[in-house]
Order: sequence, then C-alpha cells, then structure tokens
Amino acid sequence: MRKGTCLSVKSIFGDSFQICLFGESHSAVIGVVINGIAPGIELDLDFIAKQLDKRKPKGRISTSRVEADEFKIVSGFFNGRTTGTPLCIMIENNSQKSADYEATKSLLRPSHADFTANEKYLGSQDYRGGGHFSGRLTAPIVIAGAIAIQILLSHNISIGTHIKELSGIVDGGLSSNADLLQRQVDLLNDSYFPVIDKIAGENMTIAIKNAATEGDSVGGILETVILNMPTGIGEPFFNSIESKLSQLLFSVPAVKGVEFGLGFDITKLKGSQANDSFYMQNGEIKTKTNNNGGINGGISNSMPILFKTAIKPTPSIYKEQETVNIESRQNEILKIKGRHDPAIIHRARVVVDSMVAIGLLDLFCERYGYLWM
Ligand SMILES: Cc1cc2nc3c(=O)[nH]c(=O)nc-3n(C[C@H](O)[C@H](O)[C@H](O)COP(=O)(O)O)c2cc1C
Repeated sequence: MRKGTCLSVKSIFGDSFQICLFGESHSAVIGVVINGIAPGIELDLDFIAKQLDKRKPKGRISTSRVEADEFKIVSGFFNGRTTGTPLCIMIENNSQKSADYEATKSLLRPSHADFTANEKYLGSQDYRGGGHFSGRLTAPIVIAGAIAIQILLSHNISIGTHIKELSGIVDGGLSSNADLLQRQVDLLNDSYFPVIDKIAGENMTIAIKNAATEGDSVGGILETVILNMPTGIGEPFFNSIESKLSQLLFSVPAVKGVEFGLGFDITKLKGSQANDSFYMQNGEIKTKTNNNGGINGGISNSMPILFKTAIKPTPSIYKEQETVNIESRQNEILKIKGRHDPAIIHRARVVVDSMVAIGLLDLFCERYGYLWM
C-alpha cells in the first residue's frame, strides 16, 4: 500500500439529505443509501420506475445493453412510507456481458476512466464495463432523484431539461411566459427525447444515427430550468446554489461544463445590459430579465433558475483508436467491443434533473430542517 493515503468520504454527497452510491457496472447489484429523509413520506414507486425508464437505452440512438432496472427497497420503508432511518434501494445487474471486456482489458479506453481508476486503485478495480465509473451507476442516482423530485413537486417546484444543442442543431427556446414555460416543462418531463422543437429533435436523432453508423459518438448541451423556487435558498459561501449544483452536475459521468444564466456569454455584455432590473408584479419583487439565472449571491431570487450542462461525446466508440497497453506499456490500437451509446445526452437528462433535485432538497433541509419534506 502506498504511503500518504488520506481517508475522505467517497461516493457520498450531502449535508442534510445525504446519498451514498455503491456498485459497479458488472457487480451483482448497484444501489443507493439515502440518509436524512423525513419519516412518513409516501413513496410513489410508479414515478421512480417512470424516471428510470427515461434513463434506459432505447432504439438505434442508444446502446443495446438493456437492463430491466427493477428496484428493490431493502430498508427504511415500512407500510408504504419512509421510516426516517437509512433508506436503501438496490437494482440487480442482469444484462452484463463481461467477456466483451476480456479481450481489451489491458487497453485503456481514451477519455474513459480506465487509466485513472487503474492508477488510483493500484490495478485492483473492477475494470469490466467501467466498473464504478460506468454510466450504469447513474441508475441509483435517478432513484434518489425521483424521490427528491416527488418531494419538491409536493411543494410545487418542478425541474425540466431539454437538449439545447447537438451536432450544431439547435432546439427551440424556453418561454419567458410563466404559464407557457410550465407547459414546456411538463411536456419535456413526459418525453423520452426531450426537445421543444420536434423537427430539431428529428434532425438530432438523424445526427446520432449517422455517428453510430460511422462507429463514432456525439455530445451536446442540456438546458435546465427550475420553476417556482422560493427566495432565500442557498448557503454562503461554499453551499451556494451554484456551488452545490455544479458539484453534483460535474459528478455526472461525461459532464464537462456547467454555466448558470448567460454563463460565459455574460462577459460580452456591459453591466447596464447584464444587470436584471427589479420591478413589482402583483405584490412580489421580480426581475425584468434573468441573465443571472435566478441566483444572486448564491441565493435564489424567485426567478426561474436556469443553467446549461455540456455532455461530451461517449468515449467508447467502435472506430479504431490509438492507446497504450497498461500491462506491456506498449502503444497499441484499440478496437472496442461491448455495447455503447453513440450519444448519452438524452439519457443524461434525467440524471441531471435527479442531481438537481438531490442538491435542492439538501439546501431546503439546511434552511428549514428535514421535516420541511
Ligand atoms: C447515462 C450515461 C450513460 C453512459 N454510457 C456510456 C457508455 O455506454 N460508454 C461509455 O464509454 N461511456 C458512457 N458514459 C460516460 C462515461 O461513464 C464517462 O465518460 C466516464 O466515466 C469518464 O468520466 P468523464 O467523462 O466524466 O471523465 C455514460 C454516461 C452517462 C451519464
């Protein structure tokens, strides 16, 4: 064992509403333990299944590895309600094809976590299917997120995400009208491939299929809106809404960028253009524009919270790639086997929504205590 290793929490997130992830792509089970959930919460199990369905691969735009994703609640749930003690939920892995990884197990997949995990775990890691770094680990995140979303919805707070851009194809925009925006969010939450403009969506699926035919992959940009956030959520300095959510968003495998409000584009404006002027609307303080994405000083200002997330192209591609053999330490050519997505952006959408809900719930509990749930 190397010297100087320090102990810190791994695969755990949250101060008040805490989640702990476990499992690997090809282990017997994967799952989540949720600590800090209030007692007496009725869980809508159909809603959890519906959310998991959005993460499942479907059709030619996804991998052919299809998991049933049937989940089992093993503790913290009694007579249809949470007990308040650790809630543990597991999913069995049933569709592993570990043999696919044997032939290339020493060949590092470029831009996946094979090299870094090997260095970190000194070669003891389960390399099959990316192990603990597989996109498969996002299924338990979706379960925890579905529970958090249910709780937020009971307080009228909803989250919606669309594919804003993919291969240069741009989706329609989110409405600035509150009623229309709520309608857009509801429609997005009911669709598997979440876009506002149907034609843009069709062109995006063509671009994904073309990439698949070439043995390649594509990335894209997700845009998310959070509706009906009350003012005053977010803790200074290090648990601001932006810091909390970006930690979670950057924890989603394949996320390479996050920007709130106008993000990097706000730098192109002068203060007089960038500032969101206040005005009174039916006795409430609102802003005329929302360039800051509903957050000032890390705290919600009651406007919709807006942010974008950059998802990189799936690293596992079928085209030949240059790499290194970790055992012989020689340069080699990698030809990947296994089942991989030509794009993960549509499946990452529900993971993003889930992460956001988990982070917001943690912040709500910081402010009001867990009985707020
Ligand atoms: C829902 C989802 C599914 C994914 N499926 C795959 C996949 O089939 N093949 C692959 O190479 N990467 C896949 N990824 C991405 C990798 O897990 C990720 O790129 C890898 O762990 C390296 O992490 P990084 O991209 O954050 O550096 C998926 C990610 C998500 C969110």
